[in-house]
Amino acid sequence: MPGFPITRLRRARMRGFSRRMLTEHRLTPSDFIWPLFVTEGDGDPEPIDGMAGVYRLRLTHLKAAVKAAEKEGIPTLAVFPCLDDKVKNDDGTNALKADNLICRAIKTIKDINADIGVMVDIALDTFTSHGHDGVIRGGQVDNDATLEILSAQSLNYAEAGADIVAPSDMMDGRIKTIRASLDENGYSDLMIMAYAAKYASTLYAPFREAARSNPLSGGLGDKASYQMNPANSDEALREIALDIQEGADFVMVKPGMPYLDIMRRAYEAFNMPIFGYQVSGEYQMIQALMATLPETQRHALIMEMLLAFKRAGCAGILSYFAYDVAYQLNRNQ
Ligand code: PBG
Repeated sequence: MPGFPITRLRRARMRGFSRRMLTEHRLTPSDFIWPLFVTEGDGDPEPIDGMAGVYRLRLTHLKAAVKAAEKEGIPTLAVFPCLDDKVKNDDGTNALKADNLICRAIKTIKDINADIGVMVDIALDTFTSHGHDGVIRGGQVDNDATLEILSAQSLNYAEAGADIVAPSDMMDGRIKTIRASLDENGYSDLMIMAYAAKYASTLYAPFREAARSNPLSGGLGDKASYQMNPANSDEALREIALDIQEGADFVMVKPGMPYLDIMRRAYEAFNMPIFGYQVSGEYQMIQALMATLPETQRHALIMEMLLAFKRAGCAGILSYFAYDVAYQLNRNQ
């Protein structure tokens, strides 16, 4: 490339048409998975203290959410439960009940017959009284004892009609175990999105308040014995490689923005769809800045944050902004 003054990169930036013509990455509504929180009861949606504009929905609100997502072209919903303490116990056995809140949410969504996929979290944190993702044996989150329960949880959701199961527990070997049990039971078409590189992050704090799943009462502190150390990057590639080898259909990196380097490395290393999760703490950080911005700049801020995932190589993004962004994109903003 000749240098200045023959080459002037600003030439193509001078007008709208040439900026559009040279745009490398775009967001579309179909890039998004929209996470929703559901809870029991039939009152109004419950505002979540730490997540401005996000609510815990009742099952009765799901129809409107599905219709809204369908109208805006969002392909997939991810549902997370916020359960009453009275159904929680040490082993999270409510996760295996055919009429638990998530099974009823799956059925409610599927009964609407929209062209929308339902993805569900496979982990025990929202079901256990201690808030850990697995069962505790001998003072530790026990890997192999947890695998059996996660397979049963996956099967339970498969029977309720889930389209994608998303193990977020970070136990070793869970993808292999879950794939085998789904296949043995006639669910070989059910997809697995592995939370493959999931870091032990403080950015999950608002989620834990939203789902009431704070893992402090178990006495084991945070989740560093199973979620990844934020200081590591090579290890993320090993985690992702293992989940692919064990049969994951797609892999996820989480959190999102501070971990775009991991998404990029995964994109370059594996010929696999990589998803990024813009987690609750990122959402709330963006909300905090938005509150200080004039209305006209708020959408641009969200778009800039989300485009970064596409630039990093993501095939799709889980974001609490999914609906707002899809709505704006469809109205050409
Ligand atoms: C549960 C789970 C968590 C999130 C998604 N699934 C919390 C955790 O691991 O403690 C976090 C999502 C977010 O912060 O938006 N295993």
